[in-house]
Amino acid sequence: MVTGATGGVGTVAVDILAGLGFEVVASTGKTDAGDRLAALGAKSVIGRLPEDPEAGLRPLDKARWAGAVDSVGGKSLAYVLSSIRYGGAAAVSGLTGGTALPTTVMPFILRGVALLGIDSAHFAIDKRRELWARLGKDLKPQHLSDYENYAPVTEAEQVLSAIRAGHHSGRTVLGVAGEF
Ligand SMILES: NC(=O)c1ccc[n+]([C@@H]2O[C@H](COP(=O)([O-])OP(=O)(O)OC[C@H]3O[C@@H](n4cnc5c(N)ncnc54)[C@H](OP(=O)(O)O)[C@@H]3O)[C@@H](O)[C@H]2O)c1
Repeated sequence: MVTGATGGVGTVAVDILAGLGFEVVASTGKTDAGDRLAALGAKSVIGRLPEDPEAGLRPLDKARWAGAVDSVGGKSLAYVLSSIRYGGAAAVSGLTGGTALPTTVMPFILRGVALLGIDSAHFAIDKRRELWARLGKDLKPQHLSDYENYAPVTEAEQVLSAIRAGHHSGRTVLGVAGEF
């Protein structure tokens, strides 16, 4: 399961995981993103989680995912944790859906689920170098050019407005010295 699948974290996660042979289910709030995510390798594309936002969350729900890459947090992550299969894990990096995590200990103590925190700001440089090397080899995303956008820094306001309005997909690199 990859949540926030059209975002910067999500698109790269879908691309890498599909390239490694995983059956990726992509969760997105963008109704027109199905073809793009399928082209990156998503096996199926579903809406945001939980599917019924009004229904209460259960401590343990039907087990659906072997693992998850989550950049959304909040109620979405709480649902994902309750629906990870025995022994699975969720790698958690973000908070676009909120900072509160309304979960219980049940997924951890009854299914052995692991919650893996991700922080890229203070990650040790030697481990970064190892990962960067792997990102050029076995973890190399196959479709980067399909979702990597470039803009001059003078267009930052428009890019940020698109992100805030939920219209932005993939990543946009801002050039600060007249590159783009
Ligand atoms: N911990 C770290 O080291 C680290 C590193 C990078 C990023 N981050 C964090 O990770 C998160 C994602 O970063 P990003 O660069 O991928 O951001 P992004 O490009 O803005 O993508 C976030 C995605 O989340 C989904 N989303 C937006 N609002 C939502 C909402 N209210 N409820 C549920 N889903 C929502 C959208 O995807 P869909 O429309 O497809 O649903 C959106 O594209 C951010 O919170 C960022 O700060 C953390």
